[in-house]
Amino acid sequence: MEGMKGAVLITGASRGIGEATARLLHAKGYRVGLMARDEKRLQALAAELEGALPLPGDVREEGDWARAVAAMEEAFGELSALVNNAGVGVMKPVHELTLEEWRLVLDTNLTGAFLGIRHAVPALLRRGGGTIVNVGSLAGKNPFKGGAAYNASKFGLLGLAGAAMLDLREANIRVVNVLPGSVDTGFAGNTPGQAWKLKPEDVAQAVLFALEMPGHAMVSEIELRPTRPPSGPR
Ligand SMILES: NC(=O)c1ccc[n+]([C@@H]2O[C@H](COP(=O)([O-])OP(=O)(O)OC[C@H]3O[C@@H](n4cnc5c(N)ncnc54)[C@H](OP(=O)(O)O)[C@@H]3O)[C@@H](O)[C@H]2O)c1
Repeated sequence: MEGMKGAVLITGASRGIGEATARLLHAKGYRVGLMARDEKRLQALAAELEGALPLPGDVREEGDWARAVAAMEEAFGELSALVNNAGVGVMKPVHELTLEEWRLVLDTNLTGAFLGIRHAVPALLRRGGGTIVNVGSLAGKNPFKGGAAYNASKFGLLGLAGAAMLDLREANIRVVNVLPGSVDTGFAGNTPGQAWKLKPEDVAQAVLFALEMPGHAMVSEIELRPTRPPSGPR
């Protein structure tokens, strides 16, 4: 572990990209808070990453955000960055999506990120600024078959983040979007093990890069693609 850096709250930290980000930031000396619903996995990860703070919670629940941000400030004395990464995907043709599935995807991927920003900003302001990283997707720019709910959520996230960046930059809060293509995780029922895909660690590297830019410089967007997809753009 390198010297001590900021205190970063990472959502969706129980597995996949969020877990990889927590591991990398911890190894680089950041103090990390781990938010997700699966408390057991958070406890197990926190047991491995010395000093990490498990924050069991649902990004759709405002009360869970209030508790998580307060716990970060209590444990670490500050919140210096938020990584809005938690997300779900239900891939179905638009006319087969139920309202419940639509709401699950939009509430998690879009409203969850809004609530994160809403609750993190006062804490970031208390320390004079900070960074918000949103893990969006190339699906936030490119619609695909079966992506109606997921595309809508990730297109929406870019709109939310773009406006938030303009609202917050003068207060010394950077808003960064990391937009990966296909990542080799269990996301949306995928079976991991496909070598051509990006690795969760690659996305973690992009998050770290954005965090480590000097404070006066804001990387507003990183698009990340597998170099050699099997066919067509991904
Ligand atoms: N995999 C890809 O190909 C890919 C590509 C581009 C972008 N992304 C984006 O990357 C992000 C992470 O995806 P991943 O690939 O790492 O997927 P993953 O392995 O399925 O992980 C998703 C994470 O989100 C958490 N989560 C889901 N709903 C939640 C809720 N309501 N409250 C709190 N946490 C919640 C899950 O934890 P719990 O279940 O424990 O709550 C889990 O930690 C997502 O935003 C996704 O859209 C993924």
